[in-house]
Amino acid sequence: MAHANKISHDANFLNRTLWIDDNLRVLRGINSECVDLIYLDPPFNSNRFYNAPLGSEAAGAQFDDTWSLDAVKAEWSELQEAANPALYHTIIGAGLSAGESMQAYLSFMALRVQECHRILKPTGSLYLHCDPHASHYLKQLADVVFGAQNIRNEIVWCYTGPGNVTRHFKRKHDTILFYGKTSKTTLNLDAVRIPYSKETLARRGRTEGMKSIISSSVETNSRRSAAEVEARFGKGKVPEDWWVDIAALTNQPERTGWPTQKPLALLERIIEASSNPGDLVVDPFAGCATTCVAAELAGRRWAGIDIDPKALEVTMDRLRRQVDLRNTITADKLGTTQMPGFARDKTSGDWILPKVTATGEIPVRTDPTRQTRSPRIREIRWHELGEGDCRPCAGCGKEKYREDFHLDHIVPLSKGGQDIDANLQLLCAFCNVTKGNRLTMAELRQRLVQRELGLTS
Ligand SMILES: C[S@@+](CC[C@H](N)C(=O)[O-])C[C@H]1O[C@@H](n2cnc3c(N)ncnc32)[C@H](O)[C@@H]1O
Repeated sequence: MAHANKISHDANFLNRTLWIDDNLRVLRGINSECVDLIYLDPPFNSNRFYNAPLGSEAAGAQFDDTWSLDAVKAEWSELQEAANPALYHTIIGAGLSAGESMQAYLSFMALRVQECHRILKPTGSLYLHCDPHASHYLKQLADVVFGAQNIRNEIVWCYTGPGNVTRHFKRKHDTILFYGKTSKTTLNLDAVRIPYSKETLARRGRTEGMKSIISSSVETNSRRSAAEVEARFGKGKVPEDWWVDIAALTNQPERTGWPTQKPLALLERIIEASSNPGDLVVDPFAGCATTCVAAELAGRRWAGIDIDPKALEVTMDRLRRQVDLRNTITADKLGTTQMPGFARDKTSGDWILPKVTATGEIPVRTDPTRQTRSPRIREIRWHELGEGDCRPCAGCGKEKYREDFHLDHIVPLSKGGQDIDANLQLLCAFCNVTKGNRLTMAELRQRLVQRELGLTS
């Protein structure tokens, strides 16, 4: 499953694109292997409904984090029909231990994580942000899609905050699952070094006795100069896989009110570590575009997807605010210092707001590995079904003649199915009419049983 071939394709969309749509539809339209970094901050299966506070910048934004199999029928039937038994059984297992809502949530996530894997370059990485509600199940799911050997870290982001609990300790950490697509994943650990703790500095004599350490290290290692030792130590340390130095958002100026907004500093660390300037960063659950803003500031290309139209408004406001902030900083403190990401107006010298393409239009894949519908698919399916004059129908199971069969989309186009070979099957005329262009295969079978029992006409 964790397979990556060598081709790398150009992105089939513009830098700074924001799609307002279901991310599965959009991800399916993105070329394979064109993205360097994906950060996903999906709903966590918290069984809550989130609303932005009235009066906040994000007022009106909301999303539902409750899950039922009924709401993810299309995904579930696609997983049932698709030839990925490992994924299917992982989800079934989670459903058995944690219930139907977990099964529904993971069905939703599985297809999206699969698409993320497809669009990543072989050097790309995925950071999947979750919390203890589902992190253990999501890790299993992502292990199936990426290959268990490709997990790089399970990062624990710790924060503090109020909470009145009596039956357990306060739950104050999130988990960020970091996967590389292959062993060649981009990783710039030097770019994200952090200061040593006071204790470490004291232990090493950094504060008072640094000079003596340097001179003794020069004595013991004559090839390394004192300046080198000093510079190396001065860069700080590579962070551990538990992050305690990034505060959760409370009332900081960057807060928009978007439910579950993440701190810019968190995304800055991820982007700096796992991409290079000019690389392409995608966030399929963009919210108020923390990833997009961080990518812009770090000089990366970016695209975001969110199903809530309010995301566009808030994103534009945030970008504008960053520009204003940079104008102030530039004027007050930094003079004419370069600011990555934003361009300057040639005549006025002002920082200008980047042009964002906001669209509901699904991208159309242009890469050579895109799947299409082959002209001989009817023929191919007929031969796959066996030999002789008749073949079994995938719906009712009855043996039918060749001319009785219709070519059918397994997952209806109306439910996100695609017009590709993998989604086409032969159904007898009766089943095809019964299924129409809305029912999934599971629903068709249910309908056929009801008919058999005389419960419906
Ligand atoms: C946890 S929030 C992301 C917050 C974001 N990281 C930030 O800092 O603002 C999850 C987001 O996913 C969006 N969402 C939920 N289902 C979606 C779907 N099927 N397609 C696209 N976006 C979706 C919600 O509207 C919500 O904004």
